[in-house]
Amino acid sequence: MTDAIVVEGARKRYGEKQALDGLDLVVGRGTVHGVLGPNGAGKTTTVRVLATLLRHDEGSVRVAGFDVRTHADEVRRRIGLLGQHAALDEGLSGRQNLEMFGRLHHLGARRAGARADELLERFGLTDTGRKAVKQFSGGMRRRLDLAASLITDPEVLFLDEPTTGLDPRGRAEVWASVRTLVGGGTTVLLTTQYLEEADQLADRISVVDRGRVIADGTADELKGKVGGDRIDIVVRDARHLAAAAALVPGADVDEDRRLVSAPVADRMAALTRVVRDLESAGIEAEDIAVRRPTLDEVFLHLTGEPKEAVAV
Ligand SMILES: Nc1ncnc2c1ncn2[C@@H]1O[C@H](COP(=O)(O)OP(=O)(O)OP(=O)(O)O)[C@@H](O)[C@H]1O
Ligand SMILES: [Mg+2]
Repeated sequence: MTDAIVVEGARKRYGEKQALDGLDLVVGRGTVHGVLGPNGAGKTTTVRVLATLLRHDEGSVRVAGFDVRTHADEVRRRIGLLGQHAALDEGLSGRQNLEMFGRLHHLGARRAGARADELLERFGLTDTGRKAVKQFSGGMRRRLDLAASLITDPEVLFLDEPTTGLDPRGRAEVWASVRTLVGGGTTVLLTTQYLEEADQLADRISVVDRGRVIADGTADELKGKVGGDRIDIVVRDARHLAAAAALVPGADVDEDRRLVSAPVADRMAALTRVVRDLESAGIEAEDIAVRRPTLDEVFLHLTGEPKEAVAV
């Protein structure tokens, strides 16, 4: 079976600005692929090219087996898009909005109504289906957006920063909805600035910076590129920081958090040793944990510069 999305060397310029600079991307069918990058990395440009809303200058771009340039109609018939900004009618109810989208996509009145009810149920919106959208919470709106993008049962769904601007509860609601979706076999390409979001939802992640992919793989593979596990020690008394750091080679010290963090080769052995050494040095720890590196640390490592724009 062919891959759902294949991008090879895509380039796109806006005037002087090289927004895509040789972007490569392969997304297997029925998987969730995260495109992770800071503001201006080229995420929306990528989605717009894939969704046939924007023509790229160079390279090859195929979606659902069709070239977006030569077979745009075939591509459009098979995709759904959730843009960075929603297109809901505030005065209409959730159900009416979905029915309207159905009619716009040439479903008959009966079929559009049935599809609306089906999607409201699937996204836990049945109770709110009759309320006007202007009374919806941010999370509910986003879920309704998602439902609307699924009206035509697309093979490939593009979600451009689906949770930006939502509070943690709204974000959790949208994550749950995306998981529901994937169970149905839909391929999802999701852009995000949130490392945690890519970690939570995506099977594979492409880290994008300045219009090109600087790393890709599963979240675990990306974390593995930075090295193995790390040990974090939070000391109770900041005056013990230096002594604690001396116990673990290669330690970073964060004074504000009273934290010593260091790479370790063998997690269990390191943990046992550190607990014992802290005790014999008379250093009291508030917390000790062995963990995988965060995607934040991965990004820093890959780009070699602080990435202010990427939030956790
Ligand atoms: N219509 C346009 N005209 C000129 N430059 C543009 C246009 N659209 C985007 N750009 C520039 O191209 C680059 C990539 O933009 P893009 O919107 O794809 O980034 P993004 O990763 O989606 O960022 P964000 O996280 O802010 O949504 C940016 O430097 C942006 O300023
Ligand atoms: Mg964008």
